[in-house]
Amino acid sequence: MKAVLCKEFGGPEKLVVEDIATPTPGDGEVRLRIHACGVNFGDTLIIQGTYQVKPPLPFSPGMECAGEISEVGGGVKGYKVGDRVLAMTGHGGFAQEVVVDAKMLIPIPQSMSFEHAAAFPVAYGTSHVGLDYRAGLKSGETLLVLGAAGGVGLTAVEIGKAMGATVIAAASSAEKLEVCKQYGADHLINYSEEDIRDRVKEITNGKGADVIYDPVGGDAFDAAMRSIAWEGRLVVIGFASGRVPEAKANILLVKNVSVVGFYWGSYNIKKPQVVMQSMKTLLDWYESGKIKPHVSHTIPMEKAGDALEMMIQRKSTGKVVLTLD
Ligand SMILES: NC(=O)c1ccc[n+]([C@@H]2O[C@H](COP(=O)([O-])OP(=O)(O)OC[C@H]3O[C@@H](n4cnc5c(N)ncnc54)[C@H](OP(=O)(O)O)[C@@H]3O)[C@@H](O)[C@H]2O)c1
Repeated sequence: MKAVLCKEFGGPEKLVVEDIATPTPGDGEVRLRIHACGVNFGDTLIIQGTYQVKPPLPFSPGMECAGEISEVGGGVKGYKVGDRVLAMTGHGGFAQEVVVDAKMLIPIPQSMSFEHAAAFPVAYGTSHVGLDYRAGLKSGETLLVLGAAGGVGLTAVEIGKAMGATVIAAASSAEKLEVCKQYGADHLINYSEEDIRDRVKEITNGKGADVIYDPVGGDAFDAAMRSIAWEGRLVVIGFASGRVPEAKANILLVKNVSVVGFYWGSYNIKKPQVVMQSMKTLLDWYESGKIKPHVSHTIPMEKAGDALEMMIQRKSTGKVVLTLD
């Protein structure tokens, strides 16, 4: 089978496509014939050795994928060859086949394409558990989403609307904000030209945002913290800007603010029931048409490096998906 391999840490140009042996599932595992794989900002970090998880070299990136089960290992119940599933792989999805722990699989509805399924778990899962379980976002509250046209950002816009919030989308260009508007954002901030604090205060009549969803960090975090409401919650999702910001304890005290860290991947291991319950809700919302993945680019597996470069250059909106047929 063919796989995209990271054989040495570095940029996307270091990735190679090679033939490797097809893996065999052990007890509790299945092998998946992959049709599509979601691309994440985390993939750009894992190949550089700067992500929180460092698989031994060589490895294939790819945190999430979708396809059909091609072999079932011993002791696996509830799955058979040919079942259509999505898989939360952590890494290994940029390949024609992957062996996955059966606990990391979710059956997908017939109505769901492999491209949508591959774009689904990381972005929607992170935004739903982050906003609902971690931030306690309530209907009627104001949600500010930074990097709102990105993979996790756009799902936070959609989920915020689905949960009854007023959503302020902040992004770096008019084109990106147009996508956020199509996905339900009530207010738009172009943070290349406008001051986040001034605009949030204007939109909320001086109150500030109740919940801030931040996959960007850096200057955007600093500005957003100055626009948070009394008893506001800021969910730390990531640092796409490249700078890990610091929260000032005096602001937390004076405004009774909570800064809440959130790493979705760890919930798969420590509290899988939270992830599974969230995925059930999200797939119900998908089937009822309440949410719809936005895939800006579908790219063949051989061009995985170009897909990662596109994310580094901030050229994508929503998700980028690799196809493996
Ligand atoms: N905590 C978790 O469990 C979890 C789960 C998934 C992802 N994440 C993290 O969330 C972040 C976003 O991931 P994603 O997959 O949604 O990525 P993405 O689709 O590339 O979105 C990132 C967004 O960040 C903004 N950005 C600002 N400065 C940037 C820079 N220097 N380089 C690239 N983007 C920049 C871009 O929007 P503008 O151009 O509009 O600024 C871009 O749309 C990453 O840090 C990722 O590691 C965390």
